[in-house]
Amino acid sequence: MKVFSQKVQIYDAVDVLKEKLLTLGLVPTMGALHEGHLELVRTALANNDCVMVSIFVNPTQFDNNDDLKKYPRTLNDDVVLLRTVSEDRLLVYAPTVDDVYEGHTVSEKFDFDGLEFEMEGRFRNGHFDGVGTIVKRLFEIVKPDNAYFGEKDFQQLQIIKKLVEKYRIPVNIIGCKIHREVNGLAMSSRNTRLKPKYKKAAPFIYKTLTTAKKQFGTKSANKVIKWVEKQFAEHDILKLEYFIIADVDTLKIVKRKSHKKTYRAFIAVYADDIRLIDNIALN
Ligand code: PAJ
Repeated sequence: MKVFSQKVQIYDAVDVLKEKLLTLGLVPTMGALHEGHLELVRTALANNDCVMVSIFVNPTQFDNNDDLKKYPRTLNDDVVLLRTVSEDRLLVYAPTVDDVYEGHTVSEKFDFDGLEFEMEGRFRNGHFDGVGTIVKRLFEIVKPDNAYFGEKDFQQLQIIKKLVEKYRIPVNIIGCKIHREVNGLAMSSRNTRLKPKYKKAAPFIYKTLTTAKKQFGTKSANKVIKWVEKQFAEHDILKLEYFIIADVDTLKIVKRKSHKKTYRAFIAVYADDIRLIDNIALN
């Protein structure tokens, strides 16, 4: 498994693969890899000859400098983990900020047809411009046939599909299921920063989502939302930022349920100063 830090090395490696007509999958990550990431890598390996994993904490998608500074960076451990998945069919691209941004660390501005204004877009200023910028750049550098994204960041997945459609980027986007701890907590690189009492409390998020899903079968979206808000208002340490039920295509909040539409519930919660997100399919 080769670990590259410069995009010129990636151009050469990709040229070799293309000459041999081998298919290439891309799994973009910010590192601090966990089983959720590894599942994406395994899915990519099952469907491509070779897989590139990018590991890059992208500064332009953070609106909070403290969050960017504290984001875990564990490249050596990440490489060891990836070697356990495949030694011969994986490549790693772990660039510096300068290699990617060439001294100009700013986002492009995107129009994702309104997807960017909902949920995470509302609470994290400029976040999806940053995500769009880095992912578009990675597609240009790596030129993958297929790229893999987790439903954990469902809004991000929908936005990447929109990016590819709008810019006619020749890559298939594949969404992968959320990988959870046994207690239901969605795996996240940020979980490593949870203090013990918050780690113990955090599975409450998924437990509440599963009950909300059951309620959605018989109750109005509004009633379910009120119920979830009450659960968190009564919780002693977890703080709800938002809970919404939205149409998966537009990500707009549901007003009245329709059998023809597909809905998901989305949640963001603060556990101390750590922001956790999760979501669940409702129908
Ligand atoms: P990161 O948070 O490292 O996540 C990398 C990929 O892993 C994303 O597609 C994310 O949805 C997926 N993922 C994370 N936790 C998961 C879980 N528990 N189950 C399934 N998939 C999971 O998302 C990013 O990085 C960045 O925004 C990035 C796309 C790399 C752009 O910088």
